[in-house]
Amino acid sequence: MRHSMGKVYSVALVLGLLLGAAAPAAAKAASTAPTIRYDAAHKLFRIDAAQVTYAFGVDPDGMLQTVYWGSRLAANDPLGPARVSPGHASFDSPGSTSPQEYAGWGGRITIQPDLKAHFADGNRDLVLHYAGHRIDGDALEVELRDIRLDVSVTLRYTADPATGIIGRSARIENHTAQAMTVDEASAASWNLPAGDNYSLRYLTGAWAREWRLQTRAIVPGAIEIGSRRGSTGDQNNPWFAIERGGQWNEEHGEVWFGALGWSGSWRMRIDQDVLHQVRITGGFNPFDFAYRLAPGQSLQTPVFYAGYTADGIGEASRLMHRFEIDSVLPARADTKLRPVLYNSWEATEFKVDEAGQEKLAEAAAKLGVERFVIDDGWFGARNSDHAGLGDWTVNRDKFPHGLTPLIGKVHGLGMSFGLWVEPEMVNPDSDLYRAHPDWALHFDGRPRSEGRNQLVLNLARKDVADYVYGVLDRLLSENDIQFLKWDYNRNWTEPGWPEVAPEEQQKVYVAFVDNLYDIIRRLRARHPGVEIESCSGGGARVDLGIMGLTDEVWPSDNTDPSDRLSIQDGFTYAYAPGVMMAWVTGSPNWVNQRSSSLDFRFLSSMQGGLGIGANILEWTPEENATAQRYVAEYKRIRATVQRGLLYRLLSPRDDSPRSATASVAADGRQAVLFAFQRQGHEAETYPALRLRGLDPKARYRYRLIHGEAVEGTPAEASGAYWMNQGIELKIRGDLQAAGVVFERVGA
Ligand code: GLA
Repeated sequence: MRHSMGKVYSVALVLGLLLGAAAPAAAKAASTAPTIRYDAAHKLFRIDAAQVTYAFGVDPDGMLQTVYWGSRLAANDPLGPARVSPGHASFDSPGSTSPQEYAGWGGRITIQPDLKAHFADGNRDLVLHYAGHRIDGDALEVELRDIRLDVSVTLRYTADPATGIIGRSARIENHTAQAMTVDEASAASWNLPAGDNYSLRYLTGAWAREWRLQTRAIVPGAIEIGSRRGSTGDQNNPWFAIERGGQWNEEHGEVWFGALGWSGSWRMRIDQDVLHQVRITGGFNPFDFAYRLAPGQSLQTPVFYAGYTADGIGEASRLMHRFEIDSVLPARADTKLRPVLYNSWEATEFKVDEAGQEKLAEAAAKLGVERFVIDDGWFGARNSDHAGLGDWTVNRDKFPHGLTPLIGKVHGLGMSFGLWVEPEMVNPDSDLYRAHPDWALHFDGRPRSEGRNQLVLNLARKDVADYVYGVLDRLLSENDIQFLKWDYNRNWTEPGWPEVAPEEQQKVYVAFVDNLYDIIRRLRARHPGVEIESCSGGGARVDLGIMGLTDEVWPSDNTDPSDRLSIQDGFTYAYAPGVMMAWVTGSPNWVNQRSSSLDFRFLSSMQGGLGIGANILEWTPEENATAQRYVAEYKRIRATVQRGLLYRLLSPRDDSPRSATASVAADGRQAVLFAFQRQGHEAETYPALRLRGLDPKARYRYRLIHGEAVEGTPAEASGAYWMNQGIELKIRGDLQAAGVVFERVGA
């Protein structure tokens, strides 16, 4: 779609089949196929998907404006045309306060633009007008063009049939005869309905305390969240949810939510303008950003996904979960359930060797573990975090026969085999760095700051990216490996790329991530049996971009089961429990020295993809029996936990002592309840837990995984009973937990 698209198409597009016959989505999502229509009389585009209608139009000035985003409307309801905002005063002139879909900085725009650029001749003015549109496969593409220059921006819209989540991105093309430098580029701006009284929820964190949910009133001014670190980061996660009115809770209230599919530096900016209009702009972080487009070159932004629900934050989360499982993860609808995993990192750290790992593998298999993973320390001179990164050859002191005998042993025990790698990094004390010091990000003649004694390889360089791909391809070709834990343990500093011209160097922010994605994509294509976990010192690289290429994520290095309740709760606002790995590790926990029972540890970890990371060679026969029982039970409920609908019944936020979740299978046949108490309080009894999402008319029988129900609890009752009367559990004292499975009786 280059240059002008003379013809304007008027189409109705059925997306449903293209995106796969998804399972019934979160609670109320309709199965009606999405449509994309263009109403030529009103110059209006309208997308209807699941419970959502999204509409935008061309205003009389030729600019694109949001017209509606909210609950689905009747097909014949009138919408549009888009009108130019009358402005506020001479300072905020007509048009400058219109809810722009994608504004260039130029003309009379004073709001946060989506695109800001400068040209070789000194011009910095860019005014984007509608130029045409078309359907490209399953998407709507709308072309904007500058009023004078041969610069085009192609906005792409897709809609998810099950959830109504819309994906938006932009491609910027320079067809002029001069160089154009993009200073800022967003993927999209989302405009909320005019009105006050909005509040924002977003996720913040740091190493070992990721995924804290924050709430802030949206008032005139701007709120910025993002990362300047070169990768997603854990200080903020690229997800937002905005509520209108003061009644937001798990089940009620309008929520607009979204997430960016990008694993590099990113920014989301939430503005409330002089007319109190709220707008969310998200894309590349403009800090230190400059992307030069020679004549004929283009820049593709990431995708910014967003959705809407009238049914509270709980439903917003379930819509995100369904969308990720059905439409983001690489395996899509046939995504495999997470196998129960063993990893010895906390038990052995760098002291891995063939004999020790064999013993652990034997013990793990006896517990019912399905995947055995060797963590850090198996390669190069890697005896601590001071050396070896970059040298991805087996350490022969630790594994004298290579990995083959151990892998054979693991497979013989009925488990798949996985390996830890951190391919984007290098220790200065490594053969790779000694051979190629110029391969690390750096500025010539300037210091190279280390983080965890390592530097970042400049993946933006094609030779470096090819090398990294080659090393991993060889590793996977020479060894029968089913899983990689792909780690990334520092931020960027001094992100120089001295080998290219100065005006090209800041492309590193985009080229690095593009090449990372390309490496993973190529590896997956060549080794389709290999699954990948995204890890970054815990949860510092979790986003819809990396999730499109990996099968699971590591949310935090903090494995204390009590801290984990908050971490896991925060995680699920944005991301599916089915990708969230959670290990049972030793007690007392290394993070905070807190001791907890094996029951508490298992129940906490069973809220996600279950793993074991303790030194199981030290476990007593009783502990082994307990673990075997939980692993077997987990296999019976994991489809519900990983794929079902999650209901947060009691929140552990703000250090609240009690928390509980219920997961309900999409077909309503099974529900799994987990209830926790970090701290008892006087003689208070645990509140009755009222389930959600059951079929009210069906009958359900319960069985306890752990814990006790109060006397008089019926063995069997209707869904209506469990949802309204609830179940009372005997949970008293500190660090107590219970797990209950509800099975539908009969067909
Ligand atoms: C990071 C990861 C851990 C572990 C270590 C190994 O911190 O998050 O799980 O793999 O690296 O060095």
